[in-house]
Amino acid sequence: MPTLEEQRFDELIAADARVEPRDWMPEGYRKTLVRQISQHAHSEIIGMQPEANWISRAPSLKRKAILMAKVQDEAGHGLYLYSAAQTLGTPRDEMFQALVDGTAKYSSIFNYPTLTWADMGAIGWLVDGAAICNQVPLCRASYGPYGRAMVRICKEESFHQRQGFEILLELMNGTDAQKAMAQDAVDRWYAPSLMMFGPPDGDSPNSQQSMAWNIKRFSNDDLRQRFVDMLVPQAEALGVTLPDPDLRFNEQTGHYDYGQLDWDEFHEVLAGRGPCNGQRLAHRRKAFEDGAWVREAAAAYARTQAQLEKV
Ligand code: ACO
Repeated sequence: MPTLEEQRFDELIAADARVEPRDWMPEGYRKTLVRQISQHAHSEIIGMQPEANWISRAPSLKRKAILMAKVQDEAGHGLYLYSAAQTLGTPRDEMFQALVDGTAKYSSIFNYPTLTWADMGAIGWLVDGAAICNQVPLCRASYGPYGRAMVRICKEESFHQRQGFEILLELMNGTDAQKAMAQDAVDRWYAPSLMMFGPPDGDSPNSQQSMAWNIKRFSNDDLRQRFVDMLVPQAEALGVTLPDPDLRFNEQTGHYDYGQLDWDEFHEVLAGRGPCNGQRLAHRRKAFEDGAWVREAAAAYARTQAQLEKV
């Protein structure tokens, strides 16, 4: 026999209404949200690194300013998401610590290197494009603070995606060497961006329950398919080739069939053995240690202010 609290929670979910921080919720729901939201926050924070790598080498002042703003947006996304996760009772320090200790997951995609300027275009177009596809449905996530944070994040991600597309478009209208650089970046980022949606549905232990709780609205494979269908006409407009010989339109399903992804590579990256995992974590740890004095100063200031308010 469900308790009154359980009944109320089930009713909220059945009515597709929002669960708020003070509402009772099952421990599993709380844990799932902290897991997903904190992983998402860590992805935004680690995700600053591959592009920050190009700020000082952007080809013009305008490009530099745009890229800087984009990297700053990612920091902001991380902070909204940590705030949303905190409303579930997990302190931010604990989440940060898990990231620097290497015990927390963050998106596989950020463990690949950014070798040329065209990678800024491919990241914007493919990585932010995949992020939008995955994250627009999260604006309707049943947990209020998460859904609301996602609305602003998605608006900013749309701008990021367009700036990436525009970088590639400019390169594709340039010299042969620029076109080759754009194609090479697309070749390297295409498959990893498809893996961002997570393992195939049959190997996704969390999807079913997360969908039943209206946290996730679509399965990993459904969103991946939506992304591929969206990319094909955009690739045609750009004049780039998507690196998949099996990619073709299926008249029966009305979708594009695509080739097998290398899931061994995905699991290697998740296990910490991707091309840049070590570098990304080392950099984050150093930034965390270097920022200790700022945290201590802020805490000391807060203590002094609290004492002054008492006087
Ligand atoms: N990179 C790293 N880990 C992943 C990835 C990925 N691309 N895809 C799945 N995983 C992990 C899951 O976190 C889960 O691990 P855990 O149980 O230890 O937490 C495991 O692989 C199994 O996957 P699923 O059961 O499919 O997990 P889930 O239902 O959480 O779905 C997904 C994964 C789609 C990433 C979901 O968590 C999600 O939508 N998260 C919010 C979006 C997000 O985090 N985006 C980050 C990158 S985009 C960006 O920041 C620009």
